[in-house]
Amino acid sequence: MITIALPKGRIADEVLNIFSSIFGDEFCFLDRKLILQKGDFRFLLVRNQDVPIYVAYQAADLGVVGLDVLEENKLDIIRLLDLKIGKCKVVLGSKLNVGIDYNKPQIRIATKMPNITRDFFSKRAVATDIIKLYGSIELAPLVGLADAIVDIVETGNTMKQHNLKVDEVILESSAYLIANHNSFYAKKTNILDLYKKIEIIRDNL
Ligand code: PRP
Repeated sequence: MITIALPKGRIADEVLNIFSSIFGDEFCFLDRKLILQKGDFRFLLVRNQDVPIYVAYQAADLGVVGLDVLEENKLDIIRLLDLKIGKCKVVLGSKLNVGIDYNKPQIRIATKMPNITRDFFSKRAVATDIIKLYGSIELAPLVGLADAIVDIVETGNTMKQHNLKVDEVILESSAYLIANHNSFYAKKTNILDLYKKIEIIRDNL
């Protein structure tokens, strides 16, 4: 049995497409079910940010999750394969025509990703006050909660609509197939078999 944690949210559809190519058209989580059994495989539907946790604790052998999430929660897992889907960028953004005033003693940044933000600014020796939010990050600079944001950009529409601009790209992200260390060694043949199937589908997308 191999258990695979799949993400809800922004990359869910693209990820489910890959797995339905392998496991058949009827591959879907019905009636708000969070577990799906397909032969020797069991799939778990979990929040994007929770995927690495399920894998790190071996509640799942494999998982699919964005690089942004992996960089934010540095857990001890194996990054097996870049699926090259779910592409987005983690960016530093600020108000159009205002920008970021680096002469300030401290810059206040609103973000869902405090660890990525801290790493980025500590390398530049810029003092920051990082405010952790859980969503609607673009609002923060508009109402004076923050000088800038670190957020995900996919189409760029949300930032544009709120008169924000990208100052710098911090990370280019895509979805990765990840594995638990012990699972990988214990179930290597089956995992590599699935890996190859996923790789072929990825290369034909
Ligand atoms: C993300 C991100 C931006 C938006 C970017 O939010 O935080 O708000 O998507 O996408 P775009 O560049 O295509 O406009 P999400 O949809 O995950 O919602 P949230 O703000 O509630 O977390």
